Amino acid sequence: MRTQVAIIGAGPAGLTLGRLLEREGIEAVILEARSRDYVEHRIRAGVLEQGTVDLLTDAGVGDRMHREGLVHHGIELRFDGVGHRIPLSDLAGGRVIVIYGQTEVVKDLIAARLETGAPLRFEVEDVSVHDVDGDTPSVRFRHDGADHELHCDVIAGCDGFHGVCRQAMPQDRLQVFQREWPFAWLGILAEAPPSSDELIYTRHERGFALASLRSPELARLYIQCRPDDDLEDWPDERIWEELRTRFATREEGWTLNEGPVLDRLIAPMRSFVAEPMQHGRLFLAGDAAHIVPPTGAKGLNLAIADVRVLAEALVDSYRRGDRAGLDAYSDTCLRRVWRAQHFSWWMTTMLHVADDDPFGAQLMRSQLEYVVNSEAAATTLAENYVGLPFARTGAYSRG
Ligand code: FAD
Ligand code: PHB
Repeated sequence: MRTQVAIIGAGPAGLTLGRLLEREGIEAVILEARSRDYVEHRIRAGVLEQGTVDLLTDAGVGDRMHREGLVHHGIELRFDGVGHRIPLSDLAGGRVIVIYGQTEVVKDLIAARLETGAPLRFEVEDVSVHDVDGDTPSVRFRHDGADHELHCDVIAGCDGFHGVCRQAMPQDRLQVFQREWPFAWLGILAEAPPSSDELIYTRHERGFALASLRSPELARLYIQCRPDDDLEDWPDERIWEELRTRFATREEGWTLNEGPVLDRLIAPMRSFVAEPMQHGRLFLAGDAAHIVPPTGAKGLNLAIADVRVLAEALVDSYRRGDRAGLDAYSDTCLRRVWRAQHFSWWMTTMLHVADDDPFGAQLMRSQLEYVVNSEAAATTLAENYVGLPFARTGAYSRG
C-alpha cells in the first residue's frame, strides 16, 4: 500500500487533517484503533473557537454545525454567590464561540470522508511507525486479520495522548514539560434544559463547578473532584447536591435544572507538552503532543490549529517544493500551544480550590475580582477564550 500522508488516529486532529488534505488533492489514509461507534460517542469537548468554526466551514463540513450549534457571546464567572458576565464578543472584536459537541464534529467529518470514499480504516491493531528518519517511512498494522505495510511520504501522529507516535520519537531528543494537578473533573450529561443561556464557571469554597450544555434539552455539568475519586463514590444525589451548593447564588430567580444522568466520567487533569512536535518525517498533532486542563476549553481547538498549520505546510511542499512550512511546523505550533497552556493554567488556578492553601485562595479571589472589574483583565480572558486569530506565518496574530 502507498499513500502520500499516513494519518494515525481518527479524532478531531486526524479527521480534520484528512479533510483539509483531501480538499487540496493530497492523498491520505487514516488508521484508527477504535470502532466508528466508539469514536462517534466519546463525549469530550463542547466549545469551538471562532477560528475552529471558520476552518470547519471552509472545509465544507460546517452545515450541521451552523444549524444545530449554539452561538454564544459571553460567559459567566460566579464567585461568592454572585455572577458576573464577561461579554466575550464585545471584548474580542466580535468573535464568538459555538457550543457543538466534539462527538458531532467527529460524526460530520467521518460522514464527509465516507461520502467521498477516501480511505479511513477503523479497528486497526498493532500500529507501528518505521524509518521516519529516511525518505521512505512506513506504518505497519493489522486489519481484518491481515498484516499490512503502508508506505508514505509523511506520517501524521494524531493518535492522542496514549498513542504510539510520540513514543516513536527519539526519546533523547524529546523534551517533556508537564504538571499534574491535584484535582480532576467529574462530568455528567443530563437530560435537563440548561440552567442558563451561557456557560457558568464558578468558584466555591468546596471547589470549581461548570455549567455547560449540548443542546436546549441537554445540560453538561462538571465539578472539581479528587483525582483518586471513583464514580462509585458519586451517586446521582451526591452530584446534584454538590452542584446545587457550588452554584448557589444570592441573586433571585436562578435554579439548577435537574434530570436523568445519561453519561458520566471522571477526567484527570494534566498539563503536558512534548517538544519538538516533529522528527524527520513524523509530525505530531493534537493531544499526541500536548494536553491542557479543560478549564480553558482549548484541547480540541489546539488539535485543529495544529493540523491547519500542517496541512498548509504540506500543500506548500507538494505544490511548490517549499519545505519552509514543514521545517517550521513545530515552532509555529508551539507558540500557540504555550499561549493556550498559560491560559488554561491561569483559568484552572483561578477557579479551582487546592487543599491547604489559604494564601493561594485569597490571591485567586482577588484575581477573579480583578477580571470582572477591569476591562483590560476581562479582555485578556475574552481574547484567549474565543481564540487568538491565526496568522499565515505564525501561530497567532494581533488580529
Ligand atoms: P483524540 O481525540 O484523543 O484522538 C486520537 C485518536 O487516535 C483516538 O480516536 C484514538 O482511538 C486513536 N488512537 C490512539 N492510539 C492509536 C493507535 N495506536 N493507532 C490508531 N489510532 C490510535 N477541548 C476543547 O477544546 N474544549 C473543551 O470544551 C474540552 N472539554 C473537554 C472535556 C473533557 C472531559 C475532556 C476529557 C477533554 C476535553 N477537551 C476539550 C479536550 C479534547 O477533547 C481533546 O484535546 C481532543 O480530543 C484532542 O483531539 P485529538 O484528535 O488530538 O486526540
Ligand atoms: C463542555 O461543554 O464539555 C466544556 C465546556 C467548557 C469547558 C470544558 C468543557 O471549559
